[in-house]
Amino acid sequence: MAQVDLTYINQLKKGDTIANDIYFNDILLVKKGTIVNNSLLRNLESWGIANLHTKHDKRTVKHKEKIFYSKELFDLKELFYESLQYVVSEARYGLILNSDAQLAWIEHLFISSLLDARISASLFSLKKKDPYSYFHSFDVFLLGALLARDSGIKDIKSFAIGCLIYDIGKLKINKELLQKDGTLSKTEYEEIQKHTLYGLDVLKEINLPSKYEELVKSHHERLDGTGYPEGVTGESLSEEVRLLAVVDTYSALTLQRPYRRTPFSSLKAIELLLSKENKYDIKYVINLMELINIYPKGSLVKLSNGKRARVKEVNENQPYFPILEDIDSSEVFELPLNLSTSIVRFLEWSHIVDVKPDEDISKKEIYWNYFITEFINGNVDEAMTYFPMITEGMLSNNIFIDVIIRLIKEVETKRIEGQLSIGEEHDALLNVKDILKHVI
Ligand SMILES: [Fe+2]
Ligand SMILES: [Fe+2]
Repeated sequence: MAQVDLTYINQLKKGDTIANDIYFNDILLVKKGTIVNNSLLRNLESWGIANLHTKHDKRTVKHKEKIFYSKELFDLKELFYESLQYVVSEARYGLILNSDAQLAWIEHLFISSLLDARISASLFSLKKKDPYSYFHSFDVFLLGALLARDSGIKDIKSFAIGCLIYDIGKLKINKELLQKDGTLSKTEYEEIQKHTLYGLDVLKEINLPSKYEELVKSHHERLDGTGYPEGVTGESLSEEVRLLAVVDTYSALTLQRPYRRTPFSSLKAIELLLSKENKYDIKYVINLMELINIYPKGSLVKLSNGKRARVKEVNENQPYFPILEDIDSSEVFELPLNLSTSIVRFLEWSHIVDVKPDEDISKKEIYWNYFITEFINGNVDEAMTYFPMITEGMLSNNIFIDVIIRLIKEVETKRIEGQLSIGEEHDALLNVKDILKHVI
């Protein structure tokens, strides 16, 4: 007979056998009978598990390592496409996900985020408890990550994970209350609001780092101090949480919710956000409009041919193909379906004026910065997710000079400026051969 012992995590050895199933909120994290290996040791530690039961019986120890988490239990790719189908429609996303490069980038980000079992376990619990809350979080993740990337937010991966789990406090709210149809009483509303603070408890329980705390706690705060839980004002809110507030509101207004009234059209939601500049950071509302290419009637916009036009009419089913009026010639026209001419910038609407400098900020330069940062950090796979975006429209003959030579030169400059040591420069340059594989 095998002997079952209570073993503290720091006494656990490779080859021990887990005696009982380990769950987090109904999700099986580790199956009983799993043999302890190095990665399981690391994960148990990161989940904050202090002790567990192990079996000590040489006959039961088989030297076959099991995959212990989501990869085997759930097919993440399938989940990504299931979720995509639920949330994405052209009326809400415009044409952004029609591009293979964008889709590949966001799929990679989703799967790599969920390989952390603490993230996947929390999300599966949320999906099981209240599917709408899960799909809403997925929606916020998609739009949030794309918008953060275009807005130059530094740590995209952490922000994207934050977008997946910012509402995780809903795990501690009663299911009937979460799904209640109709008006909430004052007490019920106060309880719902507590999901921001409950979220902090969940972060601690699953041992996630404190960098996610602000997104979880403060995403319902508003610039004018009318939000919750603390009613703080704009000065104390980071760029990341301001961006999240915009995307969270857009998603909540426009995503179809089971058994609830018809949601807002994306156009109405954008108009509402624009009209609340005292509550939402307007630069992220503008960036969101430019991301999904949806501009309300009356907007002044800049076209890819350099002209300026006024939006005359918007069809709610195809808001990204508005009817426009040329400012100089007063000619009224529709955007061509092949988008040979497109809107590249929002300039103004009502009294809202975009404060970005007049020259177009090159998205390619923003993508280039992410590319080189990931590359220097040794994350070649992550760097390569930006490759299609930085080489889009480039002749293949030019890729060598415009990407490879530029990369080598910039790495050298960073070493000269003291941002990289000689050793780090050497390691980075060794990775150039991995990039070359995609060029030659
Ligand atoms: Fe929330
Ligand atoms: Fe939310």
